[in-house]
Amino acid sequence: MKRPYVIINCASSADGKIALPSRKQTRISCKEDRKRVLELRKSCDAILVGIGTVLSDDPHLTIRGSKKQPIRVVLDSRCRLPKDAKVVSGNAKTIVFVGKGKARPIGEDVEVIEVKEEKENFLDLKEILEKLYDKGVKKLLVEGGGTVIWSFLKEKMFDEFLVYVRPVIIGGKTSPTIADGEGVESEDEMIRLKVEEVRKLGEGLLIKYVPG
Ligand SMILES: NC(=O)c1ccc[n+]([C@@H]2O[C@H](COP(=O)([O-])OP(=O)(O)OC[C@H]3O[C@@H](n4cnc5c(N)ncnc54)[C@H](OP(=O)(O)O)[C@@H]3O)[C@@H](O)[C@H]2O)c1
Repeated sequence: MKRPYVIINCASSADGKIALPSRKQTRISCKEDRKRVLELRKSCDAILVGIGTVLSDDPHLTIRGSKKQPIRVVLDSRCRLPKDAKVVSGNAKTIVFVGKGKARPIGEDVEVIEVKEEKENFLDLKEILEKLYDKGVKKLLVEGGGTVIWSFLKEKMFDEFLVYVRPVIIGGKTSPTIADGEGVESEDEMIRLKVEEVRKLGEGLLIKYVPG
């Protein structure tokens, strides 16, 4: 299968949470990590998030002051993306993947592509990655949230998995975590990773995992 090189990146608290119990975004990464993520974004052809992240954080996903802007990609099976979301404004192209029969016009410079659902409301990542590859996306950055990260890990559709861990605790049973989704049912099903690099960055740690 032809697919882009996939890098998953997220920032987590020491207890594995990626947002507040209200699901509201909070600043987890430090100055040094934000600089690293900026460089990472610049090196990628596209940045992908799930509709959950768009609805809770309303991110721009653009690089301020840069001529080259990666394509913004949203996974949105039911096509719920608001027309005034920041991810469809600004000077970058946006691709929204939706389920079969769900496409509707969203805006200028926004391409809406229907793909099949692998299971209810979970779009087929294989088809999405092939379509992105055909559009020239050779390096893809997956920025979250927890459900999307889970899917990429579960389907083993990644080459690097980067986690910045800030030494803080967020807690809370409802706080989104690094990998949400349905989880595994047994030890045999655990998704194996290998630690390739760990380094101190700002006040926290940057861990680079690769598929195990
Ligand atoms: N700290 C960080 O690095 C970081 C980064 C990003 C986000 N976040 C946080 O993450 C939270 C949002 O995460 P989330 O889990 O609610 O949402 P999400 O992962 O952004 O989006 C999940 C949604 O995407 C759609 N989807 C379509 N196909 C999918 C597939 N194959 N796999 C997975 N999802 C698919 C589904 O919605 P439909 O059924 O409607 O299609 C699914 O519910 C927010 O609190 C945000 O602040 C943190």
